[in-house]
Amino acid sequence: KELVFSGVQPTGNLHLGNYLGAIKRFVAMQAQFECLYCVVDLHAITVWQDPEELTRQIREVTAAFLAAGIDPARSVVFNQSQVPQHAELAWIFNCVARLGWLNRMTQFKEKAGKDRENASVGLYDYPVLMAADILAYRATHVPVGEDQKQHLELTRDIAQKFNNDFAGAIQQQGHGEAFFPITEPLIGGPAARVMSLRDGTKKMSKSDPSDYSRINLTDDSDAIAQKVRKAKTDAEPLPSEIAGLEKRPEADNLVGIFAALNEASREDVLREYGGAQFSAFKGALVDLAVAKLGPIGAEMKRLVADPGHIDAVLADGAARAEAIAAPNIAAVKDIVGFVRRR
Ligand code: AQP
Repeated sequence: KELVFSGVQPTGNLHLGNYLGAIKRFVAMQAQFECLYCVVDLHAITVWQDPEELTRQIREVTAAFLAAGIDPARSVVFNQSQVPQHAELAWIFNCVARLGWLNRMTQFKEKAGKDRENASVGLYDYPVLMAADILAYRATHVPVGEDQKQHLELTRDIAQKFNNDFAGAIQQQGHGEAFFPITEPLIGGPAARVMSLRDGTKKMSKSDPSDYSRINLTDDSDAIAQKVRKAKTDAEPLPSEIAGLEKRPEADNLVGIFAALNEASREDVLREYGGAQFSAFKGALVDLAVAKLGPIGAEMKRLVADPGHIDAVLADGAARAEAIAAPNIAAVKDIVGFVRRR
C-alpha cells in the first residue's frame, strides 16, 4: 500500500525553501496518496531549544501546514513526541544501523562543526530517528528537499538490513519476503534546493544569521519586497536558454523560485523573461511571491492565535498516527523476539 510520510522541524524561521522544497509538495500529494505530516519535535531538541519557544514553534509549523493547504481531515497532521512508537523503533534501529554508516552523514558534520566532541548524541543519531519516523508507518514515499537525500538512503539501508537480519522470523510470522518497504525519496521540481538570497552557493536555511538570506513564511509584503530587491545577482540580463544559467547560481536560484511559485518550469520562466534585466524580473518575482505567500502568512497568524484549535488537530492526528504505528511496532517486537505483555 502506498503511503507518504514527511516531517518538518519546529526550529523557527520556516522559509521559502521549506515551503517550496517540502510543504507545498505535501499539499499536492494529498490528492494521490494517504499522507502523514509530522512536526518532528524530537528532532528539534538534538540542538538545545528554549522550552517556551519550542512550544510556540510546534504550533507555528502546524499552522503553516494548515495554512498552506494540508487538510487535517484527509491527511494525518501530528507532532512526533505524542506518538511513542517513533522513539521506540529508533532504539531498535540503533541496533541495526552501523557506526560506519552514520560517520558518513554530511549533515552531522556540518551541524556539529569543529566542536564535534560537544555535539549531542541525539544530533549524531538524528538519521536513525528519521528512519524510524518513516518506517514506523512503513511509508513508501517521502517528499523532501535535496538536502535530505543522504538521510533517505540511510533509511533504505536500515530497512534492507532489518529485512535481511530477520528474514527467517519475518517469513515465519507471515510477513512474506520483507517487513519494511524500501522507501522512495521524492525529490524534485525547480525548487528541490532553494539557495540563500545572499549567496547562491549556500542553501537557504533557518539558522543563517542573516534574515536577508531567506524569505520567511511569516514575512509581510514589505519584507518580501525588500529581501527580493536586495537579493544578490550578477550584472548580466537573464538568459533565454536554461544552459545560460550554468555558473550563475544566484540567477538560477531566482528563476527556480519563480518557477516553483508559479507551478512552471525554469524553461517557461526564461521563455517569458529571457533578456530581461534583474530589476524588471525582481519586480515580477516580488508580485508573485507576495500573491502566493501573503495569504499563507496571514492564515498562519490567524491560526496561531487559537492554540486550542491547533492542539486539538495535533491530538486527533496523534491518535490516528498511533493507530497505524502501534501494530507495526508490535510486529517488529515479535520479529526481533521480544516477549509481549499478556
Ligand atoms: N533550502 C531548501 N530548499 C529546499 N528544501 C529545503 N528544506 C530545507 N531547506 C531547504 C526541506 O524542508 C523540509 C524541512 O526541513 P527541516 O525543518 O527538517 O530541517 P532543515 O533541512 O534542517 O531546515 P534548514 O532550514 O536547513 O535548517 P538548518 O538551518 O537548521 O539547517 C525538508 O524536507 C528539507 O529537505
